[in-house]
Amino acid sequence: MRENIIVLDFGGQYNQLIARRVRELSVYSEVISSDTSIEEIKKMNPTGIILTGGPASVYDEDSPKCDPELFNLGIPVLGICYGAQLMNYLLGGTVKKAEVREYGHTDVDVDNSTTLFKGVSDKTVCWMSHTVYIAEAAPGFTVTAHTSVCPVAAAQNEDKKLYCVQFHPEVSHTVEGMKMLENFLKEVCHCKCDWKMDSFVETSIAQIRERVGNGRVLCALSGGVDSSVAAVLLSKAVGKQLTCVFVDHGLLRKNEGDEVEAVFGPNGPYDLNFIRVNAQQRFYDKLAGVEEPEKKRKIIGEEFIRVFEEEAKKIGAVDFLVQGTIYPDVIESGLGKSAVIKSHHNVGGLPDYVDFKEIIEPLRLLFKDEVRKAGLELGIPENLVFRQPFPGPGLAIRIIGEVTEQKVKLVQDADYIFRQEMARSGYDKVANQFFVALSNMRSVGCMGDERTYDYACVIRAVTTTDFMTAEFAELPWSLIGRVSSRIVNEVKGINRVLYDCTGKPPATIELE
Ligand code: XMP
Repeated sequence: MRENIIVLDFGGQYNQLIARRVRELSVYSEVISSDTSIEEIKKMNPTGIILTGGPASVYDEDSPKCDPELFNLGIPVLGICYGAQLMNYLLGGTVKKAEVREYGHTDVDVDNSTTLFKGVSDKTVCWMSHTVYIAEAAPGFTVTAHTSVCPVAAAQNEDKKLYCVQFHPEVSHTVEGMKMLENFLKEVCHCKCDWKMDSFVETSIAQIRERVGNGRVLCALSGGVDSSVAAVLLSKAVGKQLTCVFVDHGLLRKNEGDEVEAVFGPNGPYDLNFIRVNAQQRFYDKLAGVEEPEKKRKIIGEEFIRVFEEEAKKIGAVDFLVQGTIYPDVIESGLGKSAVIKSHHNVGGLPDYVDFKEIIEPLRLLFKDEVRKAGLELGIPENLVFRQPFPGPGLAIRIIGEVTEQKVKLVQDADYIFRQEMARSGYDKVANQFFVALSNMRSVGCMGDERTYDYACVIRAVTTTDFMTAEFAELPWSLIGRVSSRIVNEVKGINRVLYDCTGKPPATIELE
């Protein structure tokens, strides 16, 4: 029986992190909605349950609650922040609203003779973020930690295997948080902690096989990390029952279409039905004369759907659609929403009226780096697994103004040179995203004795962890100089190279 920690989601911002930390400690974990019924939870046979934080107050009538029966199942429960307050509130403790919010790094005194804090320093630093606090722990509980303003920073009812902490052990600011989570897993839940990504791959394959049976499966493959990993996982599970449709919209990086085909096509290592649709001209025609960025995005999104639909119809009745949705996508679309809504969200609006019955999202619990681990486990080439993000509308949003085939070629060639030089210098490991964009500016230059009047391209390289904010990467001038000189010499049509040294905000990563 696989060890499984259920994270019951009360809407806090760190929920996904909790599951991820548990998986880092080699125990399988998934997040489920707080309104999951007690019967369903019992069916999942969890080794332990973690109640997350959340923005609500236990006194609000409509605040999310759990069935108090949860605390009588004999299954270890760890309540975090709101989860801690809820546990105490439902079991008869006193929860009050404080005058002042306790927020940020906080010194906590812990009783390290207790199970949860075994091996933790008696004075440790934790991350707090709460206004409501537990004034008195529920009957049967003993207080195991406090701060200068918080009388019950942690408490336990060892007999019933119930534990709670007011702070957030899952965030890195809680210096010994991982030790506390490890204690919960090993000392309280008695987990063996032997789960690995290969077990995820194996289990997923078995589950997919059972679910799909003899059904037909369709996957929209972009060549990006997520859809590639999802496709290979499905291919290992159901082989030729899977068809992958790869739409080449003519806005990919240089050679990218062929690279995707080399991996997934008939000469690649995977035994799957692969359809490459060369729709380049179709997209160029639709984009002719269009300058406005959002309009370009809409046109590309819509045309993508049309092409995909046509191919899906040719294949005939498909039972399942595969999506490479990963955890951050799930958060964006709101946990617990129906799968169809996510199908719109994730693949830029795949049609919901193509003839399929169900959606399979094998990666929906994973973070990007976990998806990459799964990809390596599945034997996908490293250059594909560690590919930097590439926007769905592709080079169209890296060409300011009208998109033409000729401009696409210019930006592809310049970008290729930049990527080569970044790899050669090792700076591809420093910048998290980097590319060349084509400005709409033409300027005068001289090549030999000849006057030129050509485009200026823009080098963009950023460092970022979440792509929500970014710094421009401080590349060495020698590297920028080499890239510039190669581009103007090798790409006919570009005579000037500019370096974008703007952060996000105020700029965005892409130029459009
Ligand atoms: P921005 O330009 O908003 O980009 O700072 C943040 C991240 O999102 C990617 N991006 C997109 N991805 N469709 C996508 O699939 C889009 O329309 C799109 N626009 C931006 C961008 O490459 C960066 O990683």
